[in-house]
Amino acid sequence: MPLSEEQSKTFHEEGYLIFEGFFTQEECDNLKADIDALTEARAKREAHPYLCEFPHLGPLISHPRVMEIVESVMGPGFAFHHLHAVRQDAGTPGVPWHQDYEQEPQTNRSHVMVHLFYYLNGLNGEVGDLLCLPRSHRTVIANGALWMLDTKPLPGERVINDLPPGSAVLVHSALWHARRAQPGGEDRPRYFADASYCQAGIRWPSYGIPQWREILRRAMEKGLDRGGRYSHLFEENHFFDRQAGYEAWKSLQGSLAIQLPGWKE
Ligand SMILES: [Fe+2]
Repeated sequence: MPLSEEQSKTFHEEGYLIFEGFFTQEECDNLKADIDALTEARAKREAHPYLCEFPHLGPLISHPRVMEIVESVMGPGFAFHHLHAVRQDAGTPGVPWHQDYEQEPQTNRSHVMVHLFYYLNGLNGEVGDLLCLPRSHRTVIANGALWMLDTKPLPGERVINDLPPGSAVLVHSALWHARRAQPGGEDRPRYFADASYCQAGIRWPSYGIPQWREILRRAMEKGLDRGGRYSHLFEENHFFDRQAGYEAWKSLQGSLAIQLPGWKE
């Protein structure tokens, strides 16, 4: 198993695990080149391919070592939810406390969803620190419920600001986390990517843009399933349309429990 029993236990109890130097220098250099190209296209407001179509960011989605880790915390057959990548230059603002677990509406944590945060040139206390609140993934709250806290310190928070290049942080998506802005980094931007995966067995809200089906199709066309080995990642039936899901309950009044088909008094 790629994760020891101890690591697995830590992940499920604390809600996160750190892998220092997870990628080789060559992998980091290639991924950083893709992020530079992406950053340039965004700055010029040029149309660019989906991230799954970039030569190195695309294959990151089904990187075999990533797949082993994800399978060890949620079992086989899981779904790919999304991939983001960004170069955080000096002065990049922080991101308030939040959680990223997908559910419409938020009621339980029966199945596992994870994010992998990739720090391709590490973390060194400049630009922004990763904050998380260990064990908070067990508490059911709305994704944006904590925004009024901004990035203020919370009792028990863990500050992650010292990681070597190519490090990865696996977080349970429901873990409360934030990015606290820090000065510096003028000569050393942060190269950051994050990828997210959902346990098989339930249907999850799709990625929140109308093109989510097309992204899954493109990923398959690009061979990111690696000859069928990881085709489970890109199956549409893991998902329902997130917006449709929200529409279905947004006008809900009172307790959901008494509106469910199985309700008996
Ligand atoms: Fe997040």
